[in-house]
Amino acid sequence: LDNGVGRVPPMGWNSWNTFGCNINETLIKQTADALVNNGMRDLGYKYVVVDDCWMDSTRDSAGNLRANPSRFPSGMKALGDYLHARGLLFGIYQAPLDRTCAQYFGSYPGATGSQGHEYQDARTFASWGVDYLKYDWCSPTGTIDDQVRVFALMRDALRASGRPIFYSINSNSIHDKTGPRRNWSDVANMWRTTEDITNAWNTGQTNGYPMGIQNIVDVTVPLARYAAPGGFNDPDMMEVGRGGMNDTEMRSHFALWAIMASPLIAGNDVRSMNAATTTILTNSRLIAINQDTLGLQAGQISFDGTRRVLAKRLANGDVAVALFNQGSATTTISTTAAAIGKSGSAFTLTDAWTGATSSTTGAISASVPAHGTAVFRVSGGGTTEPPPPSTTTLVSASSG
Ligand code: DGJ
Repeated sequence: LDNGVGRVPPMGWNSWNTFGCNINETLIKQTADALVNNGMRDLGYKYVVVDDCWMDSTRDSAGNLRANPSRFPSGMKALGDYLHARGLLFGIYQAPLDRTCAQYFGSYPGATGSQGHEYQDARTFASWGVDYLKYDWCSPTGTIDDQVRVFALMRDALRASGRPIFYSINSNSIHDKTGPRRNWSDVANMWRTTEDITNAWNTGQTNGYPMGIQNIVDVTVPLARYAAPGGFNDPDMMEVGRGGMNDTEMRSHFALWAIMASPLIAGNDVRSMNAATTTILTNSRLIAINQDTLGLQAGQISFDGTRRVLAKRLANGDVAVALFNQGSATTTISTTAAAIGKSGSAFTLTDAWTGATSSTTGAISASVPAHGTAVFRVSGGGTTEPPPPSTTTLVSASSG
């Protein structure tokens, strides 16, 4: 989407994975302070996204949305000001039909979706200083063309508000198996590729709820060709630091999100992170791969059902390569500089985890533990090939 924002994947934090509906302005302010104090803001984690359950159960007499008065007594404009004063950006959640997902499930009062209020709500968000909208389809019904019409309506309303607002959509909430069917790059800056992520490595699901990390990777890797500056595949907020995985799996999760040019939206409680989580989320070499200005998602070089090799071309001619072991035993994973699109015979490999460098004439190989991912930045020589095309083809719906 060409709206001036989202030229590289967004980075930030979202309240949902850890807090669900248990949110309030104290939590959001403490989170903002933590992002500043722990260095995450300065590494790029700028969007602080308040997910579902911030709103009052009714609109005001003029039909305007308003904050839940006991959770956000100072109001959303004040919260946006607090974030902006600290060099952060303000993200908010809303739903396009009559109610949010929590309202749909009856776990939160009201029915305050944007249906029929799109332009009014976009103006409200702009007046609060909102920089990012997550717009979440919360109905089991609706055709793909209904979704295109409704998501495009808010895209146009945001544009008309006059404020550049990053636009994140989820066509998959409650609504099974719709997301990957369409290329949403004309509608939004990011679009979810699966149903909700869960705090686990593998749930055995490839199309349905809940999705583990590896399951989401299986679905999102083949969508590489649809990512570009202005619009990115969204494999959901991260579960790093949430306790459902071992450290090897958490490192893989982050490395794969980084090389897939996925939004890096932390979903853990950043006010209290252990050292392992901090080290993962603040890995500046992986963040640089993710935030590279070419905006490419890694293409798949090879996959034998266990050993997956992904490569992402970078703006300075380097290529990032991930060696991902989906199996349950340590294995050696190998590729070559030529296979990932480098020409020449002398290359430097920089290990994205340790920073250690080594030389190679072309072989790229590592012993990778179960569920682990080795990542190298390959420099030197020339760059010959873009990443190979992805294998999943999406439809473009009629209108947008
Ligand atoms: C479903 C989305 O996928 C989640 O990320 C979250 O936004 C919830 N809805 C909120 O109800």
